Amino acid sequence: MSDEQTTRQWADKLAQAEPGAIVAWAAGEFGERLVLACSFSLEDAVVVDLWARVGVPRLFALDTGRLPEETFIAAEALASRYDLRIEWYHPEATAIEHLLASKGPLSFLDSLDNRHECCRIRKVEPLARALDGRAAWLTGLRRDQATTRTDIGVVEWDAAHRLPKINPLAGWTRADVEAHAAAHGVPVHPLHRRGYPSIGCAPCTRAVADGQHERSGRWWWESPEQKECGLHLRRPAVDPSAANI
Ligand code: ADX
Ligand code: SF4
Repeated sequence: MSDEQTTRQWADKLAQAEPGAIVAWAAGEFGERLVLACSFSLEDAVVVDLWARVGVPRLFALDTGRLPEETFIAAEALASRYDLRIEWYHPEATAIEHLLASKGPLSFLDSLDNRHECCRIRKVEPLARALDGRAAWLTGLRRDQATTRTDIGVVEWDAAHRLPKINPLAGWTRADVEAHAAAHGVPVHPLHRRGYPSIGCAPCTRAVADGQHERSGRWWWESPEQKECGLHLRRPAVDPSAANI
């Protein structure tokens, strides 16, 4: 049976399971080759909390070179609370040098293609390296976060990286995540308290007003169906560094 077929069976088995049970299953199934992609948002901190109840969380973070300072503060707070070692991944220096020399530091504002190029260099290519050699990866994705995420499963086959991808919070709302964090004293990214429900790179993220959609502060000059950076591709890509987004 292929990994893809097995993943489909796991998906059926776990479709209605609670996040804690999904994380516990993943930790048991994949052992030390399971990893969480961590942006230090509340969702990811909650996944760390769930994992810490059943084992030692392992996580990597993509330092795009444009993250807000508060993300590093959040990372240190989470690491200290759960005694974590964070693996940081960085973009290829020569690719950044070439991008800045040819297009300048704000090219992502000029066109969707340029924005995708910046995300590809700063996020998508480092993600491929971060996932190399893993057995499966965890994320903090939720279905109700975005129009692009309404059909994600709790367990999916990630064709781009040829790995099972586990989204234990897929069925939770923002309120569910906040309630878990409050009940268990999970450290909260400082920007969440300053009007940022969703947090990415500093120049592409801003605070939102009460009642606005939680991702409306991400790439706010683009339409909702464009607001993905390529970390969560839903189609196969022969070479993730050259993937269509
Ligand atoms: S994004 O694709 O729009 O940037 P979002 O901020 O919603 O993603 O985060 C969704 C999930 O992607 C997070 O729960 C986390 O698993 C992963 N992720 C996002 N940004 C990073 C990052 N800088 N480092 C590691 N994982 C990340
Ligand atoms: Fe570049 Fe903005 Fe994408 Fe960050 S979110 S990698 S700064 S385009």
